[in-house]
Amino acid sequence: MLCAKQKSIFINFKSVKCLSNVFSRLLSTQTVQNVINLNNNKYESDDYSNLTPKIMSYLGRNIYLQKNHPLSMMRQKIIKYFYQEYSNPKGTPLFSVYDRLSPVVSTKQNFDYLLIPPNHPSRAKSDCYYINREYMLRGHCTAHQLDLLRSGLDNFLIVGDVYRRDEIDSTHFPVFHQVDAVRVVHNDKLFKNNPDLEIFEKEFVNNDIAAIGSSDKCIDQVKQPCHTVEAVKLIEHEMKNVLEGMVKAIFGKTLKHRWVDAFFPFTQPSWELEIFHKGKWVEILGAGVMRNQILKRAGVDNSIGYAFGLGLERLAMILYEIPDIRLFWSKDSGFLNQFDESDLKKIFKYKPVSQYPQCANDISFWLPTELPIEAFSPNDFYDLVRNIAGDIAEQVTLYDKFTHPKTGRNSLCFRIVYRHMERTLTQKEVNEIHSNIGKSIVDKYGVTIR
Ligand code: PHE
Repeated sequence: MLCAKQKSIFINFKSVKCLSNVFSRLLSTQTVQNVINLNNNKYESDDYSNLTPKIMSYLGRNIYLQKNHPLSMMRQKIIKYFYQEYSNPKGTPLFSVYDRLSPVVSTKQNFDYLLIPPNHPSRAKSDCYYINREYMLRGHCTAHQLDLLRSGLDNFLIVGDVYRRDEIDSTHFPVFHQVDAVRVVHNDKLFKNNPDLEIFEKEFVNNDIAAIGSSDKCIDQVKQPCHTVEAVKLIEHEMKNVLEGMVKAIFGKTLKHRWVDAFFPFTQPSWELEIFHKGKWVEILGAGVMRNQILKRAGVDNSIGYAFGLGLERLAMILYEIPDIRLFWSKDSGFLNQFDESDLKKIFKYKPVSQYPQCANDISFWLPTELPIEAFSPNDFYDLVRNIAGDIAEQVTLYDKFTHPKTGRNSLCFRIVYRHMERTLTQKEVNEIHSNIGKSIVDKYGVTIR
């Protein structure tokens, strides 16, 4: 979900999403062919496969578990906060942590189990990394929620890498890291001081799935039809208190925050928590009261719960003043040696090792006549650039598109800004990479360079 501009896919609707099958195959960049081998499992590729070798190279890097890495430090801060906030009288933490679940999930886990409708825009091929029609790299850690609930867990944190196709700039990267959480409370505990109160409305029959309402009807920001106001208000109050406490534990007590109404198919009501940073409100997490239908399907009865998900990069970039999301992937000791997890409370501020110059090159091309301009997904081009240029492609922006008035041909112009995080790039080196991008787009998609 989420860093200075990392957005929550589940509330964002992009306009250009309608790739027809023919065009998506035409534009599917350098994809992995036939049989895909991941973690010793073989997957047959199909018309949905859009994993690239570059993306596959991030699998297993596990930078969020790496010693003295700022993402790992942020992960530990959050886990520590939850351990302290929720423990039994003997001091045993209530929450368990799952931080090594494979990022390969089924589309059922990523979407269906979370009541995300079949036509939801977050499923678009242009926004997700699909292994094939059935499997994908998770787009959020919420993908594991139902399985963990089914296994009998009621308080848990999930930490891991998530994958989303996106634009490239200093705050967006196709791989980032999330902490997701679930807390479920049974009726007896929730109302231990008020035994007359109940979680569910009297007329609600908890075995009738239809009575719970389908996800597109979930727009009531107060509560789900099945819940009593008392139950929702209690869990909402607990959730907001705990999450406000968490951001204050990270950023200090004087931090300004606000809750903004939001929509997620798997929670209702839902909110985003924003914090005031450098003169702007920045969204840092999504949260809400869990949809009862999910608890029901997991076999959890007479309980209500809250869930949230946050992006580690965004928090770490703000706290440590890290200016560019690509730095998290740096293997350079100049970056890594600045952080030290032995004292998590100590405030580190990142000091740029040096600022290497940027180098901007433009590329303009005519699309093949049979390809309508709306069918071109810029994310396909971003992936192509990333495959060839790797992480030195700092920004790729579509800055012009037009249709020739006479011939009807469509033209697109992209600006690619190159910068190496650790050294100055030579013009020769950049020209070579840039011309390889040009060649590759001609070869693969039949465009004509202008
Ligand atoms: N999965 C959501 C996202 O990635 C975040 C979220 C998790 C929201 C759990 C509500 C509850 O945007």
